[in-house]
Amino acid sequence: MRAGFETPNTPAVSEPLAPERPEVATVLIVDDEESARRLCADIATEEGLRVRTAGTTEQALETLDETPVDIVMTDLRIPELGGLELLRRIREHYPKVAVLVVTQYGTIQTAVEATRLGASDYVTKPFHIEELRRKLQRLVHEQELDQENRVLREQLRTRPGYKELIGTSPKMQRVYKLIEKVSQHNYPVLILGESGTGKELVARSIHFSGARHHKAFVPLDCSALVPTLIESELFGYVKGAFTGAMHTKPGVFESADNGTLFLDEIGNLPTDMQAKLLRVLQEREVKPVGSNDRLTVNVRIIAATNRDLEAAVRENTFRKDLFFRLNVVQIKLPPLRERKSDIPLLVQAFLERFADPGRPLPVLAEDAMARLTSYDWPGNIRELENAIERAVALGSGPILHSGDLPSNLHYASTTEPAPTSDEIVPLDEMERRAILHALDESAGDKLMAARLLGIGKTTLYRKLKQYQSQAKDLST
Ligand SMILES: Nc1ncnc2c1ncn2[C@@H]1O[C@H](COP(=O)(O)OP(=O)(O)OP(=O)(O)O)[C@@H](O)[C@H]1O
Ligand SMILES: [Mg+2]
Repeated sequence: MRAGFETPNTPAVSEPLAPERPEVATVLIVDDEESARRLCADIATEEGLRVRTAGTTEQALETLDETPVDIVMTDLRIPELGGLELLRRIREHYPKVAVLVVTQYGTIQTAVEATRLGASDYVTKPFHIEELRRKLQRLVHEQELDQENRVLREQLRTRPGYKELIGTSPKMQRVYKLIEKVSQHNYPVLILGESGTGKELVARSIHFSGARHHKAFVPLDCSALVPTLIESELFGYVKGAFTGAMHTKPGVFESADNGTLFLDEIGNLPTDMQAKLLRVLQEREVKPVGSNDRLTVNVRIIAATNRDLEAAVRENTFRKDLFFRLNVVQIKLPPLRERKSDIPLLVQAFLERFADPGRPLPVLAEDAMARLTSYDWPGNIRELENAIERAVALGSGPILHSGDLPSNLHYASTTEPAPTSDEIVPLDEMERRAILHALDESAGDKLMAARLLGIGKTTLYRKLKQYQSQAKDLST
């Protein structure tokens, strides 16, 4: 052991302290007073942390160089460089390490300066043991969240799929495969899905990953069309065609020539216009209002609706022939409640989108993530996006808690596990099934499974261990 290093009451470094805790955080205690070092080391050990100690900044930097450290707890009056310089170097060379500074009573100004330099928190000497305990616990918790966040960020960077489309669930993988296929062709695509499931985003992905990507993508919201203007909107008009037609204006078909026309909310197109639209699709020609000439157009059609078009066909509110024309390939987007394993990744993307670039990226506490994954999201991704935007704007600190989420999310979720039979299942068996189901849903990703279940990952590990030993008992 090197001079100046002690491991008071600390078991061997490679041995995890608490068996149910898979990863143990390491805290490096930097203080030139041995008694202070010992006291802090005892407290940290009791908190289940792995402890290293150093009596000087030089020793502290050596330890940081040699061992992975999660938290540094340093006195500010410390030889040789002083605590503030040590803090500065840690920020520069070990940006992931959290620093808790210890100041003398009455030197709050230095503590403020330390926080400005990037210290996570401070405590004053003489210690309030409970306060130190709490602060250490909080830092460990924040580090865990940060670690989870890093995993998510990495997943975001390397995710499969289409630029802005986020989600790795099997249902989204199927959507990506379809997009890939249809983007190489020109036939019409009909995108179906509830409101906010990403229909427009999928339409754009098809256009921008196909051969027409350098030509126009023209969206037309069929539900926002004024009935009297639909025809001129679709086919354009020539100067003098009607009162107010001061000059010739191309319609959306002409604007989308060689590109893609996205007919959004197609289910809301009035019946008489449906016939006209069908004709253009068949003849590939448009006749601007007031003109005798027909223009040939080469337009790829992608249509979308949140309505049940087949039911509309049965009820004669949507033309069958137009439906067949548009429904060459159908892409059905899953509602968010059917792909909840994508929620953490979506949340991460939205946090990155909405966070103030000058500040550290906020992270979601477990209670908030549990709330998000237990809610049913009738407004789908748009609703989730709005919830995160709101939480980032109104949240009180770098960690967002469930209280920072919109209040409607706090009412009981509508997801009730569907009773499969009248069989009465003991509670612990139900719990076991829920855990297995969550592991299935998250393809074995334990962190994700814990999130889906709304429990900490430590609890999940403990339960899994318990099942394993029960299984062993049974087999012997
Ligand atoms: N898979 C996804 N990944 C990331 N963001 C998404 C995804 N799907 C949708 N969004 C976002 O959610 C919001 C709603 O998406 P979009 O407008 O494409 O949905 P929509 O199905 O067309 O909704 P509506 O039926 O209400 O028009 C947009 O801000 C979009 O960027
Ligand atoms: Mg839309």
